[in-house]
Amino acid sequence: MRHDGRRPLLVGNWKMHLTERWSLALLDDLLPRLADLTGALDVAVAPSLPCLRAVADRLRGAAIRLAAQNLHWEDKGPFTGEVSARMLAEIGVELVIVGHSERRNLFGETDERVGKKVVAARRHGIVPILCVGEQESERDEGRTLEVVERQLRLGLSGIAATDGSDLAIAYEPVWAIGTGRFASVAQIQEVHRMIREQLASLYGTRSAASVRILYGGSATPESAPDIVALEDVDGALVGQASLEPARFEAICRLGT
Ligand code: PGA
Repeated sequence: MRHDGRRPLLVGNWKMHLTERWSLALLDDLLPRLADLTGALDVAVAPSLPCLRAVADRLRGAAIRLAAQNLHWEDKGPFTGEVSARMLAEIGVELVIVGHSERRNLFGETDERVGKKVVAARRHGIVPILCVGEQESERDEGRTLEVVERQLRLGLSGIAATDGSDLAIAYEPVWAIGTGRFASVAQIQEVHRMIREQLASLYGTRSAASVRILYGGSATPESAPDIVALEDVDGALVGQASLEPARFEAICRLGT
């Protein structure tokens, strides 16, 4: 599934599902399953904030990377309840999900804030996974490309250049997240292609060709094979199926 030399990236987004104990139990099941795989692709898991340290300790020596689900754009200050990229970096976080639709829709995250978070992550050497995607009504109105174009443009407004190793994008149609529904392969490829073209106009063709663009939204071992085979799909951001080791393993194996 390696397209244009891009190394596949599979990310398990554990959302707010697992306590520390369950996070570690899941990892203990997952690590041996993925041990032979990680030379061929990048795999990351994104536990809840209070579990990051324990998961980081358990991942020591393993090839699985640690991701966070959110961050604040300032390094420090009077922001009760928030966590900075600096703090995440200190724990060993290597990637961070930014602008997930649950953050945008349930916690009022704007494109402007998403853009500032992308900058903050990179300032501390953490790779932002910028999430974009249309609501169902926006797709019905034929506005998918326009919405994704805007989210991408504003989300990346603070980024002058990329070599592809310091940025990833996740296209997640909001109506496909956690619903068991997913976009058709033609719809997915159309959006991924548009994202890569937009990246090319911002950063040049060569850089755009090295940025990994993930698909997310009800990715399962059943739905993912056709999706990750698409030319401009370089992996997946997996929610529900990442909570089941055998299913997450099966999705990761598609990336090899
Ligand atoms: P899902 O979630 O796989 O459960 O649809 C994906 C996501 O929210 O990133």
